[in-house]
Amino acid sequence: MMTDFCVIGTDTDAGKTTFALLWLSVFGDRYGYWKPMETGQSDSQRVRRLVPTCRVWPPLRYFAEPVAPSLAARRQGESIPLPRHAAAARPNHSPLIVETFGGPLSPWGEGSLQVEFLRELGLPLLLVASSAVGAVGRTLSCLRALSVEGLGVKAVVLIGPRDPFAEAEITHHGGARVFSLEGPGDSSEWTALEIADSASRQRQVLLDLAEWLVETPRPDPARPDLTRPDPARPDPARPDPARLENARPDPARSADWVRRDQQAVWHPYTSLQPPDPPIVVTATSDEFLHLADGRRIIDGISSWWTILFGHRDPVLIHALTEAARSIDHVHFAGTTHPWAVDLAEQMLATMPWSGGRVFFSDNGSTAVEVALKLAYQFWLRRGEGRRTLFVGFEHGYHGDTFGAMAVGRDPVFFGDFEPLLFRAIQIPLDADALDHTLKANAGDVAAVIIEPLVQGAGGMRMHPPAVLKDIAEVTQRHDSLLIVDEVMTGGGRLGPLWAHQAAAIAPDLICAAKTLTGGMMPLAATIASPTIVEAWETSDPAKTFFHGHSFTAHPLACAVAAANWRRLPRTAQPKAAAMETFWQESLGSLRDHPRVRDVRIRGSIVAVELEDAGGYLAGIGRQIRRSCLDLGVLLRPLGSVVYAMPPLNTSTASLERISEAIRRAIADACGEARGRASTVALSNTGVSIDAEVAGTDATASD
Ligand SMILES: Cc1ncc(COP(=O)(O)O)c(C=O)c1O
Repeated sequence: MMTDFCVIGTDTDAGKTTFALLWLSVFGDRYGYWKPMETGQSDSQRVRRLVPTCRVWPPLRYFAEPVAPSLAARRQGESIPLPRHAAAARPNHSPLIVETFGGPLSPWGEGSLQVEFLRELGLPLLLVASSAVGAVGRTLSCLRALSVEGLGVKAVVLIGPRDPFAEAEITHHGGARVFSLEGPGDSSEWTALEIADSASRQRQVLLDLAEWLVETPRPDPARPDLTRPDPARPDPARPDPARLENARPDPARSADWVRRDQQAVWHPYTSLQPPDPPIVVTATSDEFLHLADGRRIIDGISSWWTILFGHRDPVLIHALTEAARSIDHVHFAGTTHPWAVDLAEQMLATMPWSGGRVFFSDNGSTAVEVALKLAYQFWLRRGEGRRTLFVGFEHGYHGDTFGAMAVGRDPVFFGDFEPLLFRAIQIPLDADALDHTLKANAGDVAAVIIEPLVQGAGGMRMHPPAVLKDIAEVTQRHDSLLIVDEVMTGGGRLGPLWAHQAAAIAPDLICAAKTLTGGMMPLAATIASPTIVEAWETSDPAKTFFHGHSFTAHPLACAVAAANWRRLPRTAQPKAAAMETFWQESLGSLRDHPRVRDVRIRGSIVAVELEDAGGYLAGIGRQIRRSCLDLGVLLRPLGSVVYAMPPLNTSTASLERISEAIRRAIADACGEARGRASTVALSNTGVSIDAEVAGTDATASD
C-alpha cells in the first residue's frame, strides 16, 4: 500500500527535490508529483525530465525570479492563492507526493506562512534535511516549530553523506524515525541514469521508508516525540485547563475568587447584593463550562446566545492564532484589512439584494444604534427630517444603549430612563396593528424594528414567517424602513443563516452580533441595503456617516468571523434541525403539563413558559436556575420562561441532560413529589442524571 505525503524541508536546498527524484525513480510509475509553488529553476520540469515515468502536475504558480513566491508575486503584481484554496486544488491522483518550497515557516503570502498550507493539506509530512554540519540543530528546530504549530512529521530524511551521530541525536531528542539517503553525486546536473542508479542502490532504504509511511508508529514513552504534536502544546483548540494556574480546580481558591469578585466587580443584570454567588468559570470546552471548584456544567444558553458550535471551537481558534501572527488591531477609518473585506463580502453574498455595505461595530446594541442612526439620517438626506418616530413591538428587546432602550422600552429594564428616551412606540406584533400605526403616523415614522421569528429576551416568543412577511409588506406599503434585529436569530442559531430568509423578505437594515464570530470574539455588523447606502454616496464630507468605535472591525474578530461564516452555510442548518427534532421529542409533551402555558421550539431553542404571573422578576425563574445547576446544567430563565439554547455541537447525552434537568426543575418548582416513581414519569429520555453528572458534585439523589 502506498500513501500520499508531503515533503517539507528544514530550509531551501535541504534536498527535497533530490529526495523526490530518488523516490520517484523507484515508485514513479505509481506516484504523481506536484509542487504547487515554484520560483527560479523549475523542480517540476526537472522531475519531468529526469523521471519520465512519473506523472507531474503543473504548479499553481510559477515565478522565474528565484526569491520567495510571495515576493516574486508582489513584484509581478500577481496574487498567491490562499493556503486553503491551494490545498483544495490538490490533483486528484493517489498516491501523490507534494513538494513544498523553503521551510515550513516560509512566507506563503497575504500574511500567512507555508505551515498553514500544510495544515490545510492534511497529509503526512516527511521532513528532509541536509546531513551537512548542523543537521541536528536544523532538524530539531524545525520539528519543534512544527510541534508548536500542532503538526507532527512522519519521518525525517537526511540527505547527503551518512552521519550516524546526527541520526542518533535526532532520534533521541526529536523522537523521529530517521532515514538516510545519499544524493546521486556532487554535481546537481544529474542525468536520469545517475538518479536511477543511485535510487536502485538505496532501494532498500526507500522500501523501508515506504513501509514506515503507512505504519502507525508505537510511541516510546521515554523519548520526546516531536514527530507528533507536542502534548504540552497540543492543537491549540484542545482545552488544557490544568496548564493554567487559574484553571486548576480548587474549591478554596474558588471561594476566594467569589470574595474578591464581590468587592471589585460590577456584573450585568446582577444585584450588588445577589441572592446567589457567581459561578467561577476557569475554562470552557465544547458545551461545557469548567468551574474553579472542579465541577463541569453544561452551558445550556451558549453563554448568552453567543457560542454557536461549541466553546473553543478548533476552526475559530486556528483562525484567531493564524491572524494574530500578522496583526493585532488597527483603526478602521482610512484603513482596511483583508479580514474585514473577506467577512463583509461573505455576508453581503447572503443578502436578498446585490450590493449594499457592512458597517462593523462590537456588540448587538451598537449594531442596533447604527441601524437606528442610519434609518433616521436616510430620511434626513431625503429631506424628510420629520421622520423621527420609530416603531417596535411589545416584548421586543434590542439592547441596553439609549437608542436600543428607546425602541425596546421594557418597563422593568428601562423604566427609570423613560424621560431620556427618544420617540418610539411599541405595538402588538401583528400586521394589522402595524398598518393602523403607520397610517396614524404617516410621514413621521423612520423605521420599524423587529426581532424576526423569535423575540429573545422578551420571553422567547415566536411568530411564524407569514407574520414577518406581512409586517415587511405593510412597512414597505407605508414607505417606511424595516430593520431586522438578527442579533440573536442570525448566523445559524435557528438553522438558516438569517431568520428573515424564512419569510423571503428584503429588509433595509440587518443587525448581527453574538454568533457572528461563533461567540469567540465581540463583533457586530449592521448591513445596509443598496437603497440605504445610496443616500451616502456623495463626495460632500458633511454627509459622512459620523459614527465609529475604537475597535470597529477588529481584525482578529473579523478573521474568526470570516472562518465561522465560511462553514456556516453547510453546517448550521442540519444541526439546528436535528436539535429542533430533539426538543420536540423530549420536551414537546410538557405542553400537557397543568402548570405549563406553552412550549415553543425553533431551531436550537426550546422555551417552556410556566403559568406564573410574576414576569421577569418572578422567583420561580431563580428557583429553576438553582435546580438545573444542581443537575449540572446552567440555564437563565427569563422569569417564568425556562429556555435552553445550547451550542449546535452539543452531544445527545448533554441534550438529554438539559431536557431532564428542565423537567425535574419544573417538577420541583411545581411542588411535585420527588420519588423514583415520579422521576421515571418525568423522564422520557432514559437518562439517569445521577449516573451522568460525572465529575460534578451535583446532588440529584432521588
Ligand atoms: C435581539 C437582540 N438585539 C440586541 C441585543 C443586544 O446585544 P448586546 O448584548 O451584544 O449588546 C440582544 C441581546 O441579547 C438581542 O437579543
